[in-house]
Amino acid sequence: MEEKIKEAARILSGAKNIVGFTGAGTSAESGIPPFRGEGGIWNKYDPNALNIEYYYRHTQDSWNIIREVFYNYFDNKQVKPNPGHDILAKWEKEGRLSCVITQNIDDLHTVAGNNTVYEFHGNMSRFVCTKCGSKFPAREIQMTEKPPRCERCGGLLKPDFIFFGEGIPEEAYYGSVNAAEKCDAFIIIGTSGQVSPANMIPGIAKRNGAKIIEINLEPSTYTNYITDIYLQGKSGEILPKIDALIERH
Ligand code: APR
Repeated sequence: MEEKIKEAARILSGAKNIVGFTGAGTSAESGIPPFRGEGGIWNKYDPNALNIEYYYRHTQDSWNIIREVFYNYFDNKQVKPNPGHDILAKWEKEGRLSCVITQNIDDLHTVAGNNTVYEFHGNMSRFVCTKCGSKFPAREIQMTEKPPRCERCGGLLKPDFIFFGEGIPEEAYYGSVNAAEKCDAFIIIGTSGQVSPANMIPGIAKRNGAKIIEINLEPSTYTNYITDIYLQGKSGEILPKIDALIERH
C-alpha cells in the first residue's frame, strides 16, 4: 500500500490539473452515513422517499423521512469537514486542483475552503419552491411535521438536492464534463459508482487520458475497469498521507 501511495503522490506532484470526484464516503469520517454498504441510509429507508413523483404524490410520507434522515440528523450533530476535505481545499489553494465534482449534498467541500465545487446532486442547505422557484436557506425553514410551504406563493417547498427522477443542474453537469475532459489526474473518492449520470464522469476523464486514482474502503464499479491506482482505506487517512509525499518546490 505504501508503494501505491508513493506512486499516487508522484503522479499528483507532476499533475497540472487535478479533479476530485467525491461521493458519500468522503463525508463518512465527518459522521455522515453513506447511502450504501455498511451503515448505509438505504439499508434502513426506502430510496423511493427521494423519488420526485413520490414526493408530489405522498408528500407527508416522503417529508417524514427526508426531515428525519437529513435535517433532524444534521441538527443534532456538529458536522464538519474531515482531513480528506481539508487536503482537497489545500490542493485548490496551491493551484494544483482545479475543482471538486461532488455527489454529496452536504456543503463540507465549500466549508473546507474549496471554491470551485460542482454540486452534481444539489445541496441540502437550500430549499426551492416547486411552484415559483424561489430559494430559501434551510436554516430559515420551520422543520415541523408539516411539509414546508413557500412564504411567497404557498407552493410546496423541496430540499434543493436532486431527487431520483430529476435532472442534473445544468451548470454542475456541463462544468463537470468540461473539467473531466481537461484534467490530467482524476481522483475518485468514496463513491460506489452506482448512480447515473454521475457515474459516467470518471469515464470521460479516463478517455481523455487522465490518470485515475481511487480511494475507497472497498472496490467500486470503477476499480477493475478504469482505476489506475486503487488505494484501499479511509479517505480522511489516505489523502493526508499522499499530501505529505507531494514534492513542493
Ligand atoms: N473513505 C473512503 N470511502 C468510504 C469511506 C471512507 N471513510 N466510507 C465509506 N466509503 C465508501 C464505501 O465503500 C462506498 O463505496 O464510499 C462509498 C459510498 O457509496 P454510496 O453510499 O453509494 O454513496 P455515493 O456513491 O456517493 O452514492 C451516489 O446515490 O443515493 C444517491 O444521491 C445519492 O449522491 C448519492 C448517490
